[in-house]
Amino acid sequence: MENTHLNNKPHGDYLVNLIVEQERCVLLKDMALKLPDIILNERQLCDVELLATGALSPLDGFMTRSDYESVLDRMRLQNDLLWPIPVCLDITEMQARTFEAGQSAALRDPEGFLLAVIHIEDIWPVDREKEAVQIYATQDQSHPGTHYLFNSTGDYYLGGSLEVISPPLHFDFKQLRLTPKEIRAMYAKLNWQRVVGFHTRNPIHRPQFEMTIQAMRQEKANLLILPVAGMTKPGDLDHYTMVKCYREVTRHYPPDSFILNLLPLAMRMAGPREAILHAIISKNFGCTHFIVGHDHGSPGQDGQGKLFYATDQARKLAEQYADEIGLTIVAFKEMVYLPFEDEYRFADQVSEATQTISVSGSDIRERLRRGRQIPDWVTFPEVKAELQKAYPPPRIKGFTVFLTGLSGSGKSTIAKVLYSRFLEIGGRPVTLLDGDIVRRNLSSNLTFSKEHRDINVRRIGFVASEITKNRGIAICAPIAPYQTTRSEIRAIIEEYGGFVEVHVSTPIRVCEKRDRKGMYAKARAGLIKGFTGVDDPYEIPKSPEVRIDTTDINPNEAAQEILLYLGQAGYI
Ligand code: PPS
Repeated sequence: MENTHLNNKPHGDYLVNLIVEQERCVLLKDMALKLPDIILNERQLCDVELLATGALSPLDGFMTRSDYESVLDRMRLQNDLLWPIPVCLDITEMQARTFEAGQSAALRDPEGFLLAVIHIEDIWPVDREKEAVQIYATQDQSHPGTHYLFNSTGDYYLGGSLEVISPPLHFDFKQLRLTPKEIRAMYAKLNWQRVVGFHTRNPIHRPQFEMTIQAMRQEKANLLILPVAGMTKPGDLDHYTMVKCYREVTRHYPPDSFILNLLPLAMRMAGPREAILHAIISKNFGCTHFIVGHDHGSPGQDGQGKLFYATDQARKLAEQYADEIGLTIVAFKEMVYLPFEDEYRFADQVSEATQTISVSGSDIRERLRRGRQIPDWVTFPEVKAELQKAYPPPRIKGFTVFLTGLSGSGKSTIAKVLYSRFLEIGGRPVTLLDGDIVRRNLSSNLTFSKEHRDINVRRIGFVASEITKNRGIAICAPIAPYQTTRSEIRAIIEEYGGFVEVHVSTPIRVCEKRDRKGMYAKARAGLIKGFTGVDDPYEIPKSPEVRIDTTDINPNEAAQEILLYLGQAGYI
């Protein structure tokens, strides 16, 4: 057994603590009254918390330009210390114009609560292309890290040291939010010499459990479980459910052999570089060993179904730098289940003739979403029960039917038929948000300019998302001509329940022939400007759940198609 990394010194040899003493705190609070404010977003709050407690030692603030560039170019800080991912404070161009080096600024949470003061050393424009290529090895925006970089990161970075008055506030799981210093004190108390760190953003299912047990046995170590309770991949479980799952799983470890501690990390999902960052964080939490799993810190596949990172890339990089970080990497390959033997083994240790099964985290989520069974060999029954509460099957979730199409395409009539059918089926409250009704009640002051149509459609989306969240049915029937706005609404609603986009694709010549309100005639005569389909665009939905052309079918038949889809998807 390799024994070389039993020192548990922090990365860079010194555990940082940026939280200032009471006296300095009073002074800073006073000083902050006259300082310009920077309101931190979710990612920045996570970064400040990790910086404050030394989880990112030896960083003592947000990186300056020379460190940032050095990290991009060499995966090292200016002083040569290994560092994989930039930790920078991004600001808008407007803010950048008002700040200058040498000045200080007050960092506040979204409620305005003062967290820290930054002493600005550097302000420089973000090089998104370079950062994407160097850190994520891709500019493809289906990668959550690059998506954030290109769409949410401000135009400038601001670097400088921090003095923390109060780390971001949490009202939940306070006992599970210990700092590296507190965790290290617990090891001392428990007389732990060897600790293996395990970072995870997913619930621990049976294979992960087996992995941790094997690591503990193999390395004769105790276990520090660091579930990420910051920002992970969109669609991941909320941390409340995760903690409930971990609490169930930890009953299966021997008593006093593990510590469970939440990590307020905003993951970048940078695969191999992410693994190095996690290893450094574990090192700062005093771990002597670190588990790198199959596909560690990776966002999975891109839009073309290709993996962003080869499944062993993170392991290889972590192993390459293990000595330098000063901990032992415990690498695990993919585990598969052998139904006949009723046990887990590594995929590469099983002969081809042996029957194996493997289920990924996303397979489990998909099964839960669809209300399908999960066998006990996949996950502990108690974990399954928690997950089932978090992912109720479609049958008891709310959903939105979003009919989009040209004026006169038949949306409103289909919506009315659906409304009656849903009431007939019963079990959920039903709300009809027809274009006309919304325009009258929610959007009476809006015109048909692009900007106003977007506001109108977003309002409909918001109301529908609230209805869906509360397990009702929302039927919406606006024209909603723009793809981007429709996708935005889909994303909001899918957080809570189903979103069924129905493109009522009746061609314009048929809509125009119907012209029940005489609007097309007026538009052709130039009496109405910017009429959808005449002199304003309608962007055709690329992959709606249902597409119906009502030229040759009546509204009952059209509604039937939608109901059949809903039945098949498990909603009714
Ligand atoms: S949007 O684009 O989603 O905000 O439109 P919506 O709220 O659904 O409103 C569409 C109805 O308003 C009438 N109307 C117009 N439609 C399109 N373009 C212009 N310029 C316009 N002016 C008025 C139109 O009759 C739509 O009614 P429906 O019920 O869809 O036929």
